[in-house]
Amino acid sequence: MYLKSKVLTNEIEKKINNLLDKMTLEEKIGQLHQVGPSPVGAFDIPEAELKKMLETGRITQEEYELSKTDKILDKNEDKIRNGEIGSFLGLSDPKRINRLQRIAVEESRMGIPLLIGCDVIHGFNTVFPTPIAESCSFDDELFEQTASVAAKEARAAGINWVFAPMLDISRDARWGRIAESMGQDPFLAGNYAERKVRGFQGDDLSDNSKIAACAKHFLAYGACEGGKDYNTVDMSLSKLYDVYLPPFKRAVEAGIASIMTSFNDINGVPMTANKLLIKNVLHDELGFDGVVVSDATAVRELTVHGYSKDKYAAARDALCAGVDIDMNSYTYFDCLKELVEKGEVQIDNINEAVKSILRLKFALGLFDNPYCDFKKLNEVSCTNEHLALAKKAALHSTVLLKNNGVLPINKEKHKNISLIGELSDSISESYGCWTIYAKDEHTVTLKDALCKEGVQYTRCYGVKDELNEDEFKTATENADLIIAVLGESRHMSGEAHSYADISLPESQKSVVKRLKELGKPFICVLYNGRPLCVPEVDQSADAIVEAWQLGTKMGEALADIIFGRFNPCGKLTSNFPYKSGECPSYYNHPNTGRPAATDSDHWTCKYDDGRIKPIYSFGHGLSYTTFEYSELQIEKAESYLNVSVKITNSGNYDGYEVAQLYIHDKFASKVRPVRELKGYKKLYLRQGENKVVNFILPYSDLGFHNDKLEYVIEKGDFEIFVGTDSECELKSEFTL
Ligand code: GLC
Repeated sequence: MYLKSKVLTNEIEKKINNLLDKMTLEEKIGQLHQVGPSPVGAFDIPEAELKKMLETGRITQEEYELSKTDKILDKNEDKIRNGEIGSFLGLSDPKRINRLQRIAVEESRMGIPLLIGCDVIHGFNTVFPTPIAESCSFDDELFEQTASVAAKEARAAGINWVFAPMLDISRDARWGRIAESMGQDPFLAGNYAERKVRGFQGDDLSDNSKIAACAKHFLAYGACEGGKDYNTVDMSLSKLYDVYLPPFKRAVEAGIASIMTSFNDINGVPMTANKLLIKNVLHDELGFDGVVVSDATAVRELTVHGYSKDKYAAARDALCAGVDIDMNSYTYFDCLKELVEKGEVQIDNINEAVKSILRLKFALGLFDNPYCDFKKLNEVSCTNEHLALAKKAALHSTVLLKNNGVLPINKEKHKNISLIGELSDSISESYGCWTIYAKDEHTVTLKDALCKEGVQYTRCYGVKDELNEDEFKTATENADLIIAVLGESRHMSGEAHSYADISLPESQKSVVKRLKELGKPFICVLYNGRPLCVPEVDQSADAIVEAWQLGTKMGEALADIIFGRFNPCGKLTSNFPYKSGECPSYYNHPNTGRPAATDSDHWTCKYDDGRIKPIYSFGHGLSYTTFEYSELQIEKAESYLNVSVKITNSGNYDGYEVAQLYIHDKFASKVRPVRELKGYKKLYLRQGENKVVNFILPYSDLGFHNDKLEYVIEKGDFEIFVGTDSECELKSEFTL
């Protein structure tokens, strides 16, 4: 859709066919071959990890040596000259990118420019909150704005393709990549998807402040069994269509330029070779007409899955399933020529993939303007406007989980405030995963921001080391209020960081215990990539601020919130379970035949050693003020329900509120979730002010997929809930 309608003309199609007619088979295969600056993808590999990869044969001795330098790219320059590489991943140095582009455009026979892909997940030089954090803003406009800034900065560096947005619905907080997701709700995820595509791509990919986006990871990677990264996924197709497909559908409708397949198998078929879901569903049903790229080395991993018997079968299986680009596994590069010559792969399959790739390169304007003007990067990088947006994003992504009134801090009342915890003193810990390109000079830590306001900082403890008793005594003996930063390091979430236990490290639990014994008021600020199980903090702290990893402006934003210069308004997009064993934990679950009403109910759907409710549910987030909901009214129209509710700011602070609308389909041919988010409105109310908020709920939003994968809207009784979180009680009913 993005290609056929906006950019591609018959003129360009002719150019593509002319190129194709002139290209050799090797040059065609080269377009399908993507390499990275290291044999294993786009990120720095710790020395120990590199050694392990060498020992297990994942990389050669030469690659091992080269991985520790940036020389590996020189190994590829001849390949570019020979037309054997069509795209790179993981480059961010504009000078190096221009050098490689120049070789491709001016020294290779066909002169086809390179796609330069990069993981710009939540900002480039200006770092925004991690996606899980930003999703808590429930701010569609913000979703688009941050993507737009990331596109501008990344494109100026010569990157023309981002491997974002990540659209994996994530219900299991043990999975480290929940940090990269927009949480557990398909409705919010759909809006997020649309806005991210618009922000990254705009209306014209040849605009050098826009960039090709890549919706990932297709499909259901977030449903990996046990929350264990890369693990198998097994579910009904109707659930796939109801929960995991919607954000991708919205991304395709928004004109996404590319899709990345996921590492996992679904029901035994690896996504990298899943013809049913790639060809039949993504292309034919959803109408996707862009480029499909595998995940890193995933084509070769088809043999490891036990799906393809060897690398030749892997190349054939992936290409015939519809994977156009082989990311960094060298399988297409090694095998396709021989497979075509043996007649085991049709040249048409290769031609179709090459045409998709060339269309994207034309759409990006690369044939006319392949080089970046890296002087421009300094002009657009970390401008005051971008930094102001980073601050706004950090403010709106922060969630106030608990507050007994100690926040915002009254400096008249609390003269000796102490800050403890090493996480508060780290620039890099403000960023979270996938932030290789951050510019630190604009980042202020929480410690620096608070110390400017007279707060005393003492380290006392790190993420996993024991409390330093002397420092703790110094920090707390004269303090009348303590701010304790707890949580995870940035390396404990993100890819390949699944945890079976998502409670705080034991050393931090003992810090909480000591603070409770101290008997002085304390505020907990959480730095974390995933939802954590923090019952001991919930029981002991006077206030809890969920700060996630908020990016460049984390420190300043938190200081504004803590001292009341900004009234927090974030709402959780994932449950915070009471115990790790309760994962997956999600609000939109079926009722079952035996729902538990209390923790002590027997013969019901619950854990004897758990809680029936999470500590904090989807949609939860407090404010310094209070909002009251009243006068809920519904009115049936021809094709939609008109829902109105009065919201009053009944407290003492002006502030934002995210009003949420949920439905419950009481009886249907398939049991339906007890709640489903179907609308949200973010509004600003001054203290004492009230507004009537309207939701339009199309009846077409009330359906689900049956076993034949038909989307059905069944008549029957529905409940409508409107309120401040997914446990809101204000309700009405109607019959469709
Ligand atoms: C990684 C990730 C994917 C990323 C790619 C390139 O393994 O799964 O999200 O875009 O490799 O870095």
